[in-house]
Amino acid sequence: MEITFLGHAGVALKTAGQHLLIDPFITHHPGAQAAGISVESLELDELLLTHGHEDHVADAPAFAGRPGVVSIANYEVAMWLKSQGAHEVIPMNHGGVLQRPYGSVRMVNAVHSSTLPDGTPGGNPAGFIIESEGKRIYHAGDTALHLDMELIGRHWKPDLALLPIGDCFTMGPEDALIAAAMIQCNRIVGIHVDTFPPIALSDDRKARAVAAFAEAGKTLILPSIGETFTV
Ligand code: NI
Ligand code: MN
Repeated sequence: MEITFLGHAGVALKTAGQHLLIDPFITHHPGAQAAGISVESLELDELLLTHGHEDHVADAPAFAGRPGVVSIANYEVAMWLKSQGAHEVIPMNHGGVLQRPYGSVRMVNAVHSSTLPDGTPGGNPAGFIIESEGKRIYHAGDTALHLDMELIGRHWKPDLALLPIGDCFTMGPEDALIAAAMIQCNRIVGIHVDTFPPIALSDDRKARAVAAFAEAGKTLILPSIGETFTV
């Protein structure tokens, strides 16, 4: 699997000949444009949305409306996306596992909120565990540290995890280290950080977090926009 960081909580996955996007936030993210990333530049077969907040769904209608694109989200977000002109939606909810052409996607718990941009209820927020080509990645969505993460470590041990670290609306980097231990993952990509002033972390706090992860035998990656990882 190839995972490319698109800025904020957005990632592109390329696996088994399929192109997936999770929570792309591009049009209103100046860093994405500076890195040469645009909605038009991204190939797409499947769109996954963790919850209904604008910084996760703003570009979703443009992607979901493309012919051939399948969009996966919780029931409420999926129905909203359908009303916005989505080509094909697959609604699911927590605990469900969908078999997909590349492998599978499991919806797991996140502790957050999920109101859609127009104020309609966006169901409950989630994370995803994607399994493909013998590997697993976990995108935690927007979430606090929570004890259900123990289940992920007990049963699904991801090879790489994308965890929010920007604090204020989600956990910060110190809680992300506890989360990394719970999910039994040594390779963490820190996301949902520095996009807006409330989730900006000081260089010092980031450096301390990177050192604390290293001390625990783990790696905290603070990716540049456009950076690609292979698992
Ligand atoms: Ni959110
Ligand atoms: Mn968010």
